[in-house]
Amino acid sequence: MSFREKLNLDKLPEHVAIIMDGNGRWAKEKGKMRVFGHKNGVLAVRDTVEGAAEVGIKNLTLYAFSTENWNRPKLEVTALMELLVSTINKETKTLMENNVKLNAIGDLTSLPERCYAELKEAMAKTANNTRLTLTLALSYSSRWEILNATKMMTADALAGKIQAADINEKLFESYLATKDLPHPELMIRTSGEHRISNYLLWQLAYAELYFTSTLWPDFRREDLFKAVYDYQQRERRFGLTSEQIG
Ligand code: IPE
Ligand code: IPE
Ligand code: MG
Repeated sequence: MSFREKLNLDKLPEHVAIIMDGNGRWAKEKGKMRVFGHKNGVLAVRDTVEGAAEVGIKNLTLYAFSTENWNRPKLEVTALMELLVSTINKETKTLMENNVKLNAIGDLTSLPERCYAELKEAMAKTANNTRLTLTLALSYSSRWEILNATKMMTADALAGKIQAADINEKLFESYLATKDLPHPELMIRTSGEHRISNYLLWQLAYAELYFTSTLWPDFRREDLFKAVYDYQQRERRFGLTSEQIG
């Protein structure tokens, strides 16, 4: 029986976040340049997005480029940005057909102008789609996001719009880039690395973590379903005892 068939569709996570890792190693295994891995990673993105939409997952967030990734060799950064533009361009049609809304989080103004323009255009085109919200974390890091939120909140406090006593989790979250998204219940990382790499630190506070040794370009919807199935077997306690939950 496939994991697709095993899934309990009444117990789906509302939001799945993924760290798409292992493109470089995938390419190296095949004696190719790292960029070849990134190109093949796009196929994995397409299949994963379609799979999420197919079963009814409402939010999918993909870590596509981190703040730290800017420090990679210039050739790789340029190639990744080019790939981003061409992919967004090509995939907008598929997003429309699948009723997927494109969203992005991160320091988007640091992206090359053409990238940012393509992205904004695709987001505007897909803005009214309702089946799935696909968020790309681009030039994103959690520390950047938290600092950015703090700066905006401080500015509002100095302008007298908020008081220190008003600050609580809900208010703080309203300054985060993910303010319109529920917290991810499930975080998947591919390629066998067991770390968070500056991804959604606030939002993942109580997420279930799932690690697979599959390299990102080999990841397909059945791998997503396997991770969701694994998630569905777990007991989420949020600090309570098992008896309290049962
Ligand atoms: C993930 O794959 C893609 C990005 C970080 C952009 P990597 O490029 O990190 O591949 P590995 O981890 O070196 O194999
Ligand atoms: C995390 O992968 C960032 C993305 C997947 C975009 P990295 O490959 O950059 O992470 P580290 O350096 O192994 O922690
Ligand atoms: Mg990596």
